[in-house]
Amino acid sequence: MSEALDDDLDHEADHDADHVRTAAKFDNRWKTRRPKWGALPQVRAYFARRLGASSANVQTAVTLAERLARIAPPKPRAISIGCGPATTEIAMLKAGAVDRFVVYDLSEEALARAKKTAEAAGLGDRLECRLGDAFQDENIGTFDVVLWKSALHHMYDTRAAIAWSRDRLEAGGAFFAFEYVGPSRFQYDEVLLRHCTNLMRMIPDHIMSPPEDSGLRKLRKRVKSRSPEQIAAQDPSEAVDSGNILPAFRELMPEGKITAMGGAVARQMLIPMLANLDPERDARVIDFILAADEMLAEQGVFHNACLEWVKPG
Ligand SMILES: C[S@@+](CC[C@H](N)C(=O)[O-])C[C@H]1O[C@@H](n2cnc3c(N)ncnc32)[C@H](O)[C@@H]1O
Repeated sequence: MSEALDDDLDHEADHDADHVRTAAKFDNRWKTRRPKWGALPQVRAYFARRLGASSANVQTAVTLAERLARIAPPKPRAISIGCGPATTEIAMLKAGAVDRFVVYDLSEEALARAKKTAEAAGLGDRLECRLGDAFQDENIGTFDVVLWKSALHHMYDTRAAIAWSRDRLEAGGAFFAFEYVGPSRFQYDEVLLRHCTNLMRMIPDHIMSPPEDSGLRKLRKRVKSRSPEQIAAQDPSEAVDSGNILPAFRELMPEGKITAMGGAVARQMLIPMLANLDPERDARVIDFILAADEMLAEQGVFHNACLEWVKPG
């Protein structure tokens, strides 16, 4: 056996082991339902506004379904990799943006949830759930939509994943991604961390240092990146190659559209304070963070983006 082939096999074996750890993390995640910064009503409204949605008062999944319907006519067959509980995919089916979805995930728990929700909505026969890694499925065929919702940043080679998506699309088909596209392993630059730390200093005490008997967390004012090793230990696929998403998208889908969705300061600030925040009581704090986030996004500093491309032909 050649050395090159040996290397390939080692590489695949490594990922198989990594996939088991990723699946374990997400099995647990989808069982427990943690609060998410993207689910704050103000953040949903922020995303909806940046995506030109007709309503700011809906789940982001619904905003994305409407957006897909606008960029492309109704599509018979779509595929999504890393679907989780398939909230976005089910919203797209409900909105009539897509007729049928084939969805992949490594987590059995995610797919069980996806199936249950689809069946409850009467869409069970239009959502085909497949457990595993789509890249290993050689006879996967072609589709009218390739969707990546917060999952492209879990791919070990994001350029290869985008090239694979392009090859899976029929002419006139749409690549649609709503993703973390920031630095790999969340390794933020010093300037950004300084911005976050300066903003953190302005956050009121009831959020930063809640009373000890409140059961809430005391937060650190200094914002820093966790080490890549700490991040990989929790999930080897976490933002493993996210820093290459935008360059690869620009190279492989040059006519594609990038809509900046912010996230550069909002993610870093809102995630640690989520448990301490009350969206109504702290509305002004959340708006303040999002205003700073949007100013940076307008200057080209963003970590979340919506990527769209329609295959010519
Ligand atoms: C951050 S979650 C996003 C889930 C969902 N799309 C959403 O937006 O809520 C990433 C998902 O990708 C899945 N995943 C990671 N690597 C994968 C792979 N190679 N193939 C299929 N699914 C994968 C994980 O199990 C997890 O459910």
